Parts: sequence; C-alpha cells; structure tokens
Amino acid sequence: MEKYINKIIEGNCVEVMKKFQDDVIDLTVTSPPYDDLRNYKGYIFPFEDIVKELFRITKLGGVVVWVVADATIDATETGTSFKQAMYFKEIGFNLHDTMIFRKKNPIPQIYRKRYTNEFEYMFVFSKGVVKTHNPILVDCMHAGLELNGTTYKNYSKNEQTREKLAKPVKDKKIKGNIWEYVVGKRQEDQEAKGHPAPFPCELVRDHIFSWTNSGDVVLDPMCGSGTTPRVACEMHRNYIGIDISHEYCKIARERVRLIEIQPKLKFDKAQPPTLVLQH
Ligand SMILES: C[S@@+](CC[C@H](N)C(=O)[O-])C[C@H]1O[C@@H](n2cnc3c(N)ncnc32)[C@H](O)[C@@H]1O
Repeated sequence: MEKYINKIIEGNCVEVMKKFQDDVIDLTVTSPPYDDLRNYKGYIFPFEDIVKELFRITKLGGVVVWVVADATIDATETGTSFKQAMYFKEIGFNLHDTMIFRKKNPIPQIYRKRYTNEFEYMFVFSKGVVKTHNPILVDCMHAGLELNGTTYKNYSKNEQTREKLAKPVKDKKIKGNIWEYVVGKRQEDQEAKGHPAPFPCELVRDHIFSWTNSGDVVLDPMCGSGTTPRVACEMHRNYIGIDISHEYCKIARERVRLIEIQPKLKFDKAQPPTLVLQH
C-alpha cells in the first residue's frame, strides 16, 4: 500500500483501487463526472464498480463524501444523484448525512421556467458508524442571553423529551449541514485553472477537518485538478489522488508540489482555518 501513499496516480480509478488492500482509506472526498455534463478528457465512468471498490477499501467507520448534482434533460432533472445514493446504501454504506454545497456565486441561468440552480448534494456515506467527527462550531445567535423556553434533548432517540434551554445560551453550536462557498475566485482555487469543475479548497478543508485526524489517509479517485490531495497535504493528512486524464494529473501534481515545498499551513486543531472567513 505504501507505494500509493502521497501520490497522484494516472489511470482508471477502478483498476487502480483494485490494487489497494481492504480497509485502508479513512476518508474519500470526490465528485464524479455526472450526466455527461462536461467533456473530460478520456473518461470512462463505471459507477457501480467504483462504489464497490470504495466500500472494500474504506476502513470501518470511514467516510465517503460524494459531491454530485443532476442535469436537466428534456425538461426533467435526471435524478442521477438520488439513484447513486440509493446504490451506495444497497451495497452496504450508511447514508450518514445528505448535505448541501450552496454556491454563493452560481452561474446565472437563461430563464427556462425554473429558478437558478445554486447547489449540489454532498452525500456523506459511512462504512458502519462514523469513527471520527470533529464538528465545526458556529456562533449561537442568542449567545449569552437568558432566554426562557424549552428545546428537544435526544431528538433522534425514541424518547423525545423537552428540557429547559441552557441559561445563558451557549456561545457555540454545531454548524448546520448546508455549507456555502464562493466558487473559483480565491487564489488557491485559481491554481486549478485548466480543469472545468474543481472543488473550492474550503469545501474539502471542512470535510477533512470533520471526518479525519492528522496522519489519516484521504483519497480522491477522480481527483481532477487535485484539490483533495492538495488540501489533505496542507492539513498533514496522507493523500492518494487518481485521475484518468494525463493533463489533469499534471495539474494535480503541480498543486501538491507547491504545498509540499511551502511551510505547512498553521492548522488549529480546534477549528478549521475557514471558520473565521465563513461566519
Ligand atoms: C468533477 S471532476 C473532479 C474535479 C475535482 N474534484 C477537482 O477539484 O478538480 C471528475 C474527474 O473524474 C475524472 N474521471 C472520470 N472517469 C474516471 C475514471 N474512471 N477514473 C479516474 N478518473 C476519472 C475526470 O478526468 C475528471 O477530472
């Protein structure tokens, strides 16, 4: 396994993942090519085989973040994203959370009797019960106030009892599952020019913070411009990036190289570096 760690590997991800041992990956953050929306160079997309391999190589308690949306074809959304999510469940993954990646700067759409599309799904799958969760915290709107009222405790358990609100209201709470990012404008995202659909680095950073610890192994089997490996490297995680395109692998290797030769980003273990910018 060692020879694949901290490498960008050119090839069909199914064939490459077949060479990995079982139960070796802590987190996968990836986005497949969906609904033939873009023309990636030389792509073959054997969806079911990819999911089966991901299940085999993910550690017990490990997580796969699958970022996907639907094309609209002949006046209807394809529903591919939901079909894919159901397949992950069928082969044994838990659907741990259905999160939303909201684009703060969506591409304005030509009016086609629908609202501007401004989000993608981030399906969070786990193999068994999630083993690592470092929650991102945000400020409570009413922090410090002496509010009367009640709130649910143990909301997801059978017993749903209401208890008095904490007094005063706490400073921080766990962030919600709709995450917002500006796409393609930050310097770190501009490095990915040459790829048609890179992730914002911040999105990857927030997932890596949430689902892994330092030294864990983070995979992107369709890594394109290498955003996941780049951010994993910056955050002191081990990375594996795979892409079928020679050209994209070159971009990915260069992005990771620039991180490797820089002093590592100072990383506060308590909160991801993006938090200050987001709230
Ligand atoms: C949506 S893009 C990923 C972009 C990436 N998240 C980034 O930040 O740049 C999907 C990628 O999947 C790659 N791809 C498609 N089929 C593949 C396969 N079978 N194996 C490996 N890569 C594949 C394409 O070349 C493309 O770069």
